[in-house]
Amino acid sequence: MKNYYVMTLFPDMVMNGLNTSITGRAKEKGIINFEAVNIRDFTKEKHGHVDDYPYGGGAGMVMQAQPVYDAYKYIENKSGVNTRVIYMTPQGKVFNQQMAKELSCEDNIIFLCGHYEGIDERVLEMIVTDNVSIGDYVLTGGELPAMVMIDTISRLVPGVLNNDLSALDESFSENLLEYPQYTRPEEFMGKKVPEVLLSGHHANIAAWRKEQSLIRTKNRRPDLLDG
Ligand code: ADE
Repeated sequence: MKNYYVMTLFPDMVMNGLNTSITGRAKEKGIINFEAVNIRDFTKEKHGHVDDYPYGGGAGMVMQAQPVYDAYKYIENKSGVNTRVIYMTPQGKVFNQQMAKELSCEDNIIFLCGHYEGIDERVLEMIVTDNVSIGDYVLTGGELPAMVMIDTISRLVPGVLNNDLSALDESFSENLLEYPQYTRPEEFMGKKVPEVLLSGHHANIAAWRKEQSLIRTKNRRPDLLDG
């Protein structure tokens, strides 16, 4: 069983998303589990504040260290001290399929979602093991990035997809994009399914698909072929 913990101010957003579709079914099957931990539950302030003005001035608010730290301690109690803590930030290493593959081997992962202008640096220094971005753009918070990561990682965990082969034979699996797919009918508005796919000749089909993957990658993502 894989355990994914999300430290967030918006637990409903995270749980509603992940309980849907394939990740939700995997949770029902007991293959993965996810838990959104509400950072606000750990504030010691009377009015439930979790943020304050930045020292030195400037726009926006900063999430305070104490509730983040205490929420982390609550999770650490269940997950163990060696659990990776991934801070979702546009300043992190950019997430990709290779990183997802590596993380799919971890039994416990904590995702820390910031909001406002960020989180007090001191608690980040104390608990974060990895800084990860999902791309070079800025979102309003780390929740969507954490959901993107959990979705991508989960489908690589054995048993989550009904057909485990579909996780192997897909875009990026060999740094190539996936070949085009077709289903019935054989002809749609005058457009026919490529002949080779109807031939039943497995070697020819495999060769055609490999060629299509290469052509597609060259046209759409030539950067992937550079390595
Ligand atoms: N938080 C805000 N923008 C982000 C991004 N691009 N990746 C991860 N976390 C973020």
